[in-house]
Amino acid sequence: MILSISLWLLVAVLILWILLDPVSRISRAIFEVLIPLVNQKPIDLKNKFGEWAVVTGSTDGIGKAYAKELANRGFNLVLISRNAERLEKTKSEILTISSNIQIKLISADFSKGREVSVEIEPHLRDIPVGILVNNVGKQYTYPMYVGEVPEDELWDIINVNIGAATLMTRIVIPGMQKRQKGAIVNVSSGSELQPLPLMTVYAATKVYLRSFSEALRVEYNKFGITVQHLTPLFVNTKMNAFSHRLQVSTVAVPDATTYAKNAVATLGKIDSSTGYWAHGIQAFFTLIPPVWIRTKIGEMMNQTFRKDYLKQKNL
Ligand SMILES: NC(=O)c1ccc[n+]([C@@H]2O[C@H](COP(=O)([O-])OP(=O)(O)OC[C@H]3O[C@@H](n4cnc5c(N)ncnc54)[C@H](OP(=O)(O)O)[C@@H]3O)[C@@H](O)[C@H]2O)c1
Repeated sequence: MILSISLWLLVAVLILWILLDPVSRISRAIFEVLIPLVNQKPIDLKNKFGEWAVVTGSTDGIGKAYAKELANRGFNLVLISRNAERLEKTKSEILTISSNIQIKLISADFSKGREVSVEIEPHLRDIPVGILVNNVGKQYTYPMYVGEVPEDELWDIINVNIGAATLMTRIVIPGMQKRQKGAIVNVSSGSELQPLPLMTVYAATKVYLRSFSEALRVEYNKFGITVQHLTPLFVNTKMNAFSHRLQVSTVAVPDATTYAKNAVATLGKIDSSTGYWAHGIQAFFTLIPPVWIRTKIGEMMNQTFRKDYLKQKNL
């Protein structure tokens, strides 16, 4: 009798243990989808974090749209990208809509590594940065096997996706700590939900951002600093130019403006989010199968995009 009860107990504990991980992952996804609906009250981000926001990679795509959304909310901006002309153009575009803010520009190429942060630091020394958006990112030109990706491209991806977020955070976080307020928004990617063959290194750099964000949050929450980890799925930007399928805006693949509006609305409400309700639903379904199945599906998806690209280029 006792043996039989112990055996059943053991089986029950085993089943619970097996279910614990998927259930907690799925509950997080449901929470993420529901929170913008349940908590619709907008947060006064300027009051909460400070008057200046720095956005890296802000002349195109999500970064530019995010900067515009912050400008709408009255933030002064520091825009950082590598092309001075495009920075000026972005500045005038934003000022025509939000004329009552200040905008400073810094041209910097994050693929150059550490020397860039040394150049940027003096520009930010006297600016009380309230929000840092670590948005800049680099993706493969198209889905490739690691042995096909040019070495320079791999190194740039590591510098831009990992180095920039790390060193930009290092520059602004002591000031935030002193002021006892601020937010670091790390733009990661849904590609970190599982290993992603044919975008192997890109996805791996985004896993770094998750670990970095989660540990940083524990270090700095007590100093009044919010660390948000954003994991967008596909957004219609030039980053995905390798496939025509991702260059059409839909509910599932929003344009950058729609994405950024939704993402900014989650800041201060949720620490880790896709940033956009329809991506939250996609992430919910993505997380149901075990990792090995998702990895296989990811490979199949990227084989399709690879074919799209090679066909586009007549290769
Ligand atoms: N689009 C998506 O589907 C998607 C999905 C998940 C995550 N994300 C992430 O979201 C972020 C933004 O992506 P996006 O699609 O908006 O990219 P995007 O449209 O390609 O824009 C990238 C921005 O970064 C700047 N930039 C690129 N390389 C740079 C460098 N070496 N130094 C300084 N600035 C540089 C570009 O400016 P210039 O070219 O003018 O220099 C541009 O302003 C990235 O971190 C990306 O990984 C995107």
